[in-house]
Amino acid sequence: MNIGVIGTGYVGLVTGACLSEVHRVTCFDKDAEKIKALNAGRVPFYEERLEDVIDSNRHIGHLSFSTEAAKQLENMDVIFICVGTPQGKKGCDISQVEAVAHMIKACAISPKVVVVKSTVPPGTGLKIQAILGDRHFYVSNPEFLREGSAVNDFFHAERIVIGTESEAALQVMRDVYKCFNGKRLEFDVVTAEMSKYVCNCALATKISFINEMSNICERVGANIDCVRKVMAADARIGKAFYKQGPGFGGSCFPKDVSALFELSVDLGYPAMLLSEVLKVNSFQKNQLLGKLVKHLVLKDSRVAVWGAAFKAGTDDVRESPAIRLIEGLLSCKAQVAVHDPKALGNLREIFGDKIQYFPGDRYDMLRGADALVIVTDWPEYKYSNLQLITPKIIIDGRGCIDKYDAEEFGKTYEGFGV
Ligand code: UDX
Repeated sequence: MNIGVIGTGYVGLVTGACLSEVHRVTCFDKDAEKIKALNAGRVPFYEERLEDVIDSNRHIGHLSFSTEAAKQLENMDVIFICVGTPQGKKGCDISQVEAVAHMIKACAISPKVVVVKSTVPPGTGLKIQAILGDRHFYVSNPEFLREGSAVNDFFHAERIVIGTESEAALQVMRDVYKCFNGKRLEFDVVTAEMSKYVCNCALATKISFINEMSNICERVGANIDCVRKVMAADARIGKAFYKQGPGFGGSCFPKDVSALFELSVDLGYPAMLLSEVLKVNSFQKNQLLGKLVKHLVLKDSRVAVWGAAFKAGTDDVRESPAIRLIEGLLSCKAQVAVHDPKALGNLREIFGDKIQYFPGDRYDMLRGADALVIVTDWPEYKYSNLQLITPKIIIDGRGCIDKYDAEEFGKTYEGFGV
């Protein structure tokens, strides 16, 4: 099968690369520099195993990259739309998806199965189908890829959701995914669209819930890590996604919860729980700084930060709690030094030379620092040698360091929920 994937961001590139294990795939992007880099074998972001999958499939001729979507779309059987759907002024901005739909309408003469994988608010399918007209078949096929394990998630999906009103398109989609694992769930378009939002909102709600419980634990003197063990023993509650921390970030949860909230407002039912989930998360992101100012006058102080990525395993800093922290530190005139194994390049695009960047030895960069703030749950931070951590103050957003060990070493330690 010939598959075209439009958009080579996290979703498009992972989708295109993984599908090329089985099909002939062309990934398109209007960014010529990006396509040039991909054709030269350079992957524009860090994602485990992605480079290997791209390399091997390029070499056997299964995967190629091009800027010429308009010219080549006619050769495709299936077209995946994977362009960005950023947070707009009011909800999710689907203008790039609409623009691609117009291009398909103009350039593809024979009928195509057009698959939207970008996360789009429920109801978008109707708008896109209206642009495409009767000639093409519309499918909603939301992604459930976690950054850091996206390739694995694609090959071993928990579920493959296909939403379409067309029996013919459904058969084609079954063929597309014939060789991939994952429970098949086939619905109408709007149900498929909604399912993606509901899953992300459910996960975000769990995180805000545990963060709220953790804040109460701190105030009452209870230990959230022990409380979580009690929760986990109840099969109805479980333990996944109940880890407290400095708030959720990334390209999905903040945007998707906001978008569903905005949609609910438009529908005349302003979702009460979703707005609170966002409020708790915003509060939580301020906590790193809040905990630090209890112990340190920030003006002219030196603060070391471990972790810029919104979570371990990625170089993505979008909506990372580190951004809010660094902005706060800079506005209080503190000097900031950041260590991260992968995400410093992206952080530099935001802060330029206002802060210092340390990709190397994470203990070396602590020299002269008054405080250490741990933001990202990189595994190596969990195996830290307290003897080498020189700052007196430790604010530990991810429970990497044991509070009692730190206090034995004479540190002033602030964690979350302990
Ligand atoms: C998420 C969804 O998991 C995925 O299914 C969807 O398709 C895209 O969005 P991702 O954004 O890559 O994936 O990250 P995820 O691992 O889900 O973590 C999101 C955020 O929640 C991170 O900031 C993480 O640190 C935080 N988190 C996660 C917690 O604070 N506590 C937890 O227990 C779990």
